[in-house]
Amino acid sequence: MPETTHNHALPTLPPLTYRGAALYCEDANLADLAREYGTPLYIYSQARILQNVRQLQAAFAPANPLLCFSVKANNNRALLALLHAQGLGFDVVSGGELHCAMQAGAPAHNIAFAGVGKTDAELQQALQARVGWLNVETAEELERLEQFAASAGVLQQVVLRLNPAIDADTHHQIATGGANAKFGLLVAEARALAARPWPHLDLCGVHLHIGSQLRSPAATLAALDVALEFMRASLPSATVLDLGGGFPVAYQLEEEVPDINVFATPILRRLKEYGRPLRLLLEPGRCLLADAGALLVTVMAVRNRSAARTIIVDGGMNTLARPAIYGAHHELLPVRHTPATGPADVAGPICESTDYLARNRSLPALQRGDQLAICTTGAYGYSMASQYNAQPRPAEVLVAEASTRIIRRRETFADLE
Ligand code: LLP
Repeated sequence: MPETTHNHALPTLPPLTYRGAALYCEDANLADLAREYGTPLYIYSQARILQNVRQLQAAFAPANPLLCFSVKANNNRALLALLHAQGLGFDVVSGGELHCAMQAGAPAHNIAFAGVGKTDAELQQALQARVGWLNVETAEELERLEQFAASAGVLQQVVLRLNPAIDADTHHQIATGGANAKFGLLVAEARALAARPWPHLDLCGVHLHIGSQLRSPAATLAALDVALEFMRASLPSATVLDLGGGFPVAYQLEEEVPDINVFATPILRRLKEYGRPLRLLLEPGRCLLADAGALLVTVMAVRNRSAARTIIVDGGMNTLARPAIYGAHHELLPVRHTPATGPADVAGPICESTDYLARNRSLPALQRGDQLAICTTGAYGYSMASQYNAQPRPAEVLVAEASTRIIRRRETFADLE
């Protein structure tokens, strides 16, 4: 039976594989998932998530870090609970994300609350929850926090987010460490703050995050040097170093991205050379979830014109924003494999001319009712989805071997009210 034969000749990206012509996630047949749950549908492989967690834990094991999953990459409660069960903490950037992390069972002391602009209500919520660390980026925020901590009669641990004035090697729209970026305190600004008394704040360390999908470790290491030097000179009592996220994943077939050890090995060496023990926090988002997820869409119409073939599917920039916002490339795999017949563009249903999921891809002769899997969409997929054009957001399903379960229901018109 072709359905159960592993076919290694057909290239795929994790967590998907072809068995004969049928596309699977673990032992779940994607055509069955589309039939059972409808499309558009986000699916996640539990095995791949756990494998990604173990890989990152192993790479940084000598420093025994706390991995604080970056909730902005995916805020699904069941996935957060799965990560919490692996011992992870969370990086949150809003009151809403703090709420999601705590609903998933995370203890507040394993949560770092970051973000470039926090409201009074968010600062008070974080203090009340007793989050482990508040990552502060402006003098004004530190002053407000001191006042709130004084009124609450608490001593809050704070880490200062540094802007190391270093450009990361990544897409300019997801770089955050350059001197002109809106993020973080320049070293001189952080030095001035560290010299002032903060009776209700324990300035216990430094936070860095220079960008996402980093293509090499060079900028991270340069930023780390800036942070260690700052701590040595201006915050000698520091015990915490939060190195942010940014570890890359492969979005294209055969794409080579640096292995996690290419980052971990020199980082660990520098921490050892620092001489004083530091509590290391990491805020991985993409590298834990992106390649564990895929988005299933169904073909609604095919427009054949001499200039181009356009395949119109039922999920677009409302469901997966990355291609429209960043020109991001996601591989497309037909759920039933047949040989490619030529190039095609894949467009969504939204009334915007930028609503394309992919351009100029080699695809088979697809017809209405056929399905495509859009790969590597487990991070910044659902979490960036919108209700634009009053489209309810899709459902999410977790796959574990052959078992599948809804982990977020499909929205209905009632959710649009
Ligand atoms: N920590 C901080 C302070 C961050 O700002 C971010 C991501 C992370 C951690 C997690 O970074 P990761 O490990 O996922 O690279 N929407 C964009 C990515 C924006 C990233 C924003 N900050 C995308 O779809 O590529």
